[in-house]
Amino acid sequence: MKTRKSIGREHSMCVQPSFIIGTYDENGVANFAPITWVSITWDKDRFLLVISMNGSKKTKENAETNKKLSANLVSTDMLELMDKLGSYSGSDVVKNEVLHEEGLTLKVPILMESKWVYECEVTKIVQMGDTHTYFCEVIDVTIDASIDISKGHDLFTLDPVIYSGNYYSIGKYLGKIGDFV
Ligand SMILES: Cc1cc2nc3c(=O)[nH]c(=O)nc-3n(C[C@H](O)[C@H](O)[C@H](O)COP(=O)(O)O)c2cc1C
Repeated sequence: MKTRKSIGREHSMCVQPSFIIGTYDENGVANFAPITWVSITWDKDRFLLVISMNGSKKTKENAETNKKLSANLVSTDMLELMDKLGSYSGSDVVKNEVLHEEGLTLKVPILMESKWVYECEVTKIVQMGDTHTYFCEVIDVTIDASIDISKGHDLFTLDPVIYSGNYYSIGKYLGKIGDFV
């Protein structure tokens, strides 16, 4: 028989996808920061990314000023970049020395390295203490032109970094909805 044990709420980790959020400041200077408290929700006819950020951050400042951001999916070959961008703040030093361009649809900085990018408008901000959660309408998704999505969203091609306090990559293909009913 299986038994359980309590390990305490300090272990409230969540399995997280990894993104680098791109924003412009009021002078059009780009900034990039890793954020993994990211999920998605739906409202009538639109998808919204749900992005939570704690404390003071250049990314928060920029998102509130411009009401726009990009969410750049991090693949395993971008780990070093993500680690570096998370180690200091754009509030202290310009943090855009990475190949980036303007979004295809919105005026947001996007990482050319990222295979899958959401271009978003910030539509609602919810504050809980020192943490702000941004509901960001997905206006467009832009991808590496070499990726063929006609057969679905292949996670082996996107090769995302999964975060839990430690970094992981995805494992096996398990099937699709309905395969196990
Ligand atoms: C892997 C990783 C994941 C992170 N996820 C988050 C997050 O979900 N929310 C958050 O507030 N900070 C998160 N951070 C911390 C920010 O990236 C960090 O504070 C960064 O320096 C902010 O930069 P900025 O001030 O230029 O926006 C994460 C850092 C790393 C390395």
